[in-house]
Amino acid sequence: MRVKSLSLKNFRNYEQAVIEPDSGVTVFTGPNAQGKTNILEALHLCCLGRSHRTARDEELIRWGAANARVNILTHQQDGTHEVTILLDKHQKKKKTVRIGARQADRIGELLGHVCGVLFSPEDLSIIKDGPAERRRFIDMQLSQLRPQYFYALQRAVRTLNQRNALLKEIAKNPSLLPTLDMWDEQLAGIGAQIAQSRREAIAQLSQDAKAAHASLTDGREELRLWYISQTAEGGDVEGQLLARLRAARSEDLRRMTTTVGIHRDDIGVTINGKEARTFASQGQQRSAVLSLKLAQLEMAARETGEAPILMLDDVMSELDPGRRRQLIERIDRVQTFVTCTDLSDLAGARQGAVYHVENGVLSR
Ligand SMILES: Nc1ncnc2c1ncn2[C@@H]1O[C@H](COP(=O)(O)OP(=O)(O)OP(=O)(O)O)[C@@H](O)[C@H]1O
Ligand SMILES: [Mg+2]
Repeated sequence: MRVKSLSLKNFRNYEQAVIEPDSGVTVFTGPNAQGKTNILEALHLCCLGRSHRTARDEELIRWGAANARVNILTHQQDGTHEVTILLDKHQKKKKTVRIGARQADRIGELLGHVCGVLFSPEDLSIIKDGPAERRRFIDMQLSQLRPQYFYALQRAVRTLNQRNALLKEIAKNPSLLPTLDMWDEQLAGIGAQIAQSRREAIAQLSQDAKAAHASLTDGREELRLWYISQTAEGGDVEGQLLARLRAARSEDLRRMTTTVGIHRDDIGVTINGKEARTFASQGQQRSAVLSLKLAQLEMAARETGEAPILMLDDVMSELDPGRRRQLIERIDRVQTFVTCTDLSDLAGARQGAVYHVENGVLSR
């Protein structure tokens, strides 16, 4: 797929901006705090309906403005797609999505119109931080590729919240206890769907990430990923989850929260057999994330039949020359958006459009 144009109005520090990217690499360069990452954030918003750095959409609206608008035009095998996202501080509906001229009923409808992989320095948290970051990584990838997954996940979160609310209610009113059965069944049903998708996707990512990592490290490091869940592979996953919930019931009632389920899943990551989170050096962790991102790119390309866009936020300067070369080779094959403070970081890459960014104003 290819982005033909991106227009912003009152988005972050941009009053108005239009970008017509190159089919190869489009570069955004300039000093710190000028608005380079803000552009990638706008692209990410078009891919997933949310920012990669905040869950509060209001922060994306330019200070002093009441609303923001991001419009994107992409070209895919099946034709042209247009997505518009409107954010408004004062409207009841704070976020509106339009696909072409039609207003979408649900934010999820925008998924698939723009498909991208973002790699930013903060992604180190996928390796370094707790399980929540790794769940977010796999959930975002699957949501973007499969709207059904996105809706299932929304349903799982809602069901979990309802079960937790009920656990608190039961503490006050024990006669409600029998209603817990229904929530257990629902949670097990939806949880099984999600667990299956995660397991299968992580297995795919694992293969690609292993290959990417071997080539990044000249075969010196073996990266391994696997799904960590409370259910075993194969068999009746729903039944397993239900049994877990039943077994944990007295604990759940005591703690007034759900202690088992897919919201406790994790992804195991080892480098040469050692847990990456604990034992890998900063550089190794960074390379592992890069391998994950490259695997994400492969998976998206396989699943959608065309390469997604790649967004690289200030990552070149952090890679050693060999790893940079590996990345630059991939960049050559997909439409890429890169930010950097110094153009020399991109030496060796085919540079298309170069935008200089200064205080929310772009110039070429
Ligand atoms: N809602 C907003 N309205 C106006 N300006 C904003 C808003 N949110 C952030 N900014 C400004 O945007 C700037 C940050 O932009 P961005 O993160 O894109 O910087 P950058 O060019 O990527 O910098 P760096 O090189 O440090 O990563 C900050 O200076 C901040 O003041
Ligand atoms: Mg930045």
